[in-house]
Amino acid sequence: MIIKSSDYAISAVKEEQYPQDNLSEIALAGRSNVGKSSLINSLLGRKNLARTSSQPGKTQTLNFYIVNQDFYLVDVPGYGYAKVSQTQREKFGEMIQDYLETRENLKGLIILVDSRHEPTKSDVAMYNYALVLELPILVVCTKIDKVKKSQQNKVISNLKKNFDLAHDNVSVLTYSSVQKTHVKEVWTWIEQYL
Ligand code: GTP
Ligand code: MG
Repeated sequence: MIIKSSDYAISAVKEEQYPQDNLSEIALAGRSNVGKSSLINSLLGRKNLARTSSQPGKTQTLNFYIVNQDFYLVDVPGYGYAKVSQTQREKFGEMIQDYLETRENLKGLIILVDSRHEPTKSDVAMYNYALVLELPILVVCTKIDKVKKSQQNKVISNLKKNFDLAHDNVSVLTYSSVQKTHVKEVWTWIEQYL
């Protein structure tokens, strides 16, 4: 992908606020702090387009970033953040589900999990839910730079203990926003669904 432009477009919490221009969208979902906003920045070669934070819960709305005036990357609020109130969490859930279940422009979903840890119950629930949506899914194991070299090749095989990856619409990659590992591969995956 040659990136000619990338810009923040709009934030939304409900359907009326989604972009109206009918361009394709690729969304990113995953636990708070897993590295969704960082992945957007590293894909686009931008330092701070999507705001990141070491404090979980930074992204609280659906944030649409327009690329090459042609398609959107959609940063979705993280789930499983304990400090968000129960009501807020239910709202997040509703907002994310409304978007994922009804959005015609949504062409693919990137699900991020942390390479260092076993997937949480929420990760597994999110993945199984995504399978039901029948969207193309890319599972990205983030922060691979934090895993010892000798352990890196086990990350995907370990994931298979919790995620049933044997589906035609599912791909999997390790990733580092810091070292820019597999940026090109993520783009190749995105391009085939735009
Ligand atoms: P929420 O918006 O809270 O849902 O979080 P997020 O998933 O958008 O995470 P974010 O991109 O803000 O990253 C969280 C923290 O992890 C930040 O301190 C990032 O610098 C760090 N981080 C993200 N990706 C990587 C990575 O690939 N490697 C390393 N070492 N750190 C990373
Ligand atoms: Mg974020």
